[in-house]
Amino acid sequence: MTIPKLLSGKLLAALEALGVEVPDSSRIQVATAADLRFGDFQSNAAMVLAKAVGKNPRALAEEITGELSVDELCEVSIAGPGFLNFTLKPDAWADLAKAQWESDDLLIQQVETPQTIVLDFSAPNVAKPMHIGHIRSTIIGECLSRISTALGHKVIKDNHIGDWGTQFGMVTWAWKKGVDEAQLEEAPLQELLRLYRSASDASKEDEAIKDECRSELVKLQQGDPENTAIWTRCLELSRRGLDAMYDRLGVSFDHWMGESAYNDALAPLVEKLKAADLARESDGAVCVFSSEAVKPKADPFKINRDGEWQDYPMMIQKSDGAFNYATTDIATVDFRVNEWQADQIWYVVDFRQGGHFEQLFDVSTRLGFDQVNLVHVAFGTILGKDGKPLKTRAGDLPQLNDVLNDAVKAARAVVDGKSRLDSDEEKAALAELIGVNSVKFTELSHHRMSDYVFDLEKMVALEGDTAPYLFYSYVRSRSIFRKLEEGVAENLSADNLALTEPAEIHLVRMLSRYGDQVSLVLDDYRPNLLATYLLEIARAFHSFFEACPVLKSEGQTRESRLVICDLTSRVLREGLNLLAIDVPERM
Ligand code: ARG
Repeated sequence: MTIPKLLSGKLLAALEALGVEVPDSSRIQVATAADLRFGDFQSNAAMVLAKAVGKNPRALAEEITGELSVDELCEVSIAGPGFLNFTLKPDAWADLAKAQWESDDLLIQQVETPQTIVLDFSAPNVAKPMHIGHIRSTIIGECLSRISTALGHKVIKDNHIGDWGTQFGMVTWAWKKGVDEAQLEEAPLQELLRLYRSASDASKEDEAIKDECRSELVKLQQGDPENTAIWTRCLELSRRGLDAMYDRLGVSFDHWMGESAYNDALAPLVEKLKAADLARESDGAVCVFSSEAVKPKADPFKINRDGEWQDYPMMIQKSDGAFNYATTDIATVDFRVNEWQADQIWYVVDFRQGGHFEQLFDVSTRLGFDQVNLVHVAFGTILGKDGKPLKTRAGDLPQLNDVLNDAVKAARAVVDGKSRLDSDEEKAALAELIGVNSVKFTELSHHRMSDYVFDLEKMVALEGDTAPYLFYSYVRSRSIFRKLEEGVAENLSADNLALTEPAEIHLVRMLSRYGDQVSLVLDDYRPNLLATYLLEIARAFHSFFEACPVLKSEGQTRESRLVICDLTSRVLREGLNLLAIDVPERM
């Protein structure tokens, strides 16, 4: 049982003893105090109930305090208009630390009703290498999947790659004009990118080429054998490149159900939508229009142009008969609900697709998929140091692989300057780990909706809110154990935990919040809450380490502090693992 729950139980008992009627016990809440000057936990129960019993809140708080039996656990004081503040006693903290240290999962709280969650993330458009923008979806998605799994949900990770769009018309056109087979074997993604770019440049200059590209796509969609063979080859080659990237990032998927997987479902789906009166023809195309159920302002099928609300339909079949992104996404909801029994589908996708998802969710509800919870987990833009969206000098989005290589180079400079490792091999491995994971941690430490500046030097620095700072803290907490006499680490026990120093108590207090922090991430899909929490743990650990000698202390104090070091290292390692970040054992 958590301390807030225990304390609210005690509060209810005291209120009952006082004869105060509590109409709704869920309103008797005890929360972690935001400001430590006001104790560790806080409740506004007296303020909530005072009016109904005709008392002044402070007077009621006094009466409650008189009745409370929490002497073993904490001190109680009254503040401001009638807040009850609870300050835990050192022994109570020691008990908490012991329970946490002895638990396998560090007291993560399993959810009461596990859900089947489909996580739709990463999903690059293939035949092009991944670019910097893909890092956000890929990393946030992986992190949310790990946290949901740890909390007891069933998670299905699906990479809904764009493997059927207009880019294939272009690549096929350029392929036929002259693919470089040697390059295709050597550096497949680069060669595909070259083909794509040459077609895209050519069709910008010449309308006729644009049409040729389009007709290559139509041929593919009609099952032309030559185009199908080229497409299959493209997919295989892209898949190789993507697998290598996901390996490097420590990301994995259960399924790769790309857009093309739904081809056969699209024509019947459009018929079904028409038959249900959800879609109708409009200028030769087929579109879904507003249900007119809500005010235009809240209606994703309306748009305000020059002060007037106009229809903003969702096109599901173009006038040339082709289906599109929207059609596929509706079919995907159907599949995930019917085949996978999804209770939730989370789409980790750029905020600029917000309008698409609002329409998709609305259509899905109208189609009868109203049991599934559909969520757009949106995120913002990565900026360059000039404050504009990050671009290369040539004006393109930087390729993810290049960015990671640069990060590793920057990390290597830090490693060469500071590391105690000897061999070049170890240093190279450490630089790879620090470089890649620093980019990931930077991503996760920002609120997903905020635009952040991509600054490699800052990310890999040992000081600051960075991954290397956390790694350094972790390595420090572990290195003590290598200096111990034989048998000590193996026989460590938390039975004699005793906390005396404020820095010790503070560290344990922070560590005890781990389970809550992990759960909190899912309230609004915010990995940054866990990331910032881990930074606080690292800071609390360093203060503890400065104030409280470990190896040089003796007897019970020494054992007690070793347990705290061990607990800290586990919280850091497990917490980072939930963020999909690996830790080094030595630096
Ligand atoms: N391939 C899309 C893009 O690059 C993202 C797909 C996201 N998932 C989805 N079900 N729409 O923009």
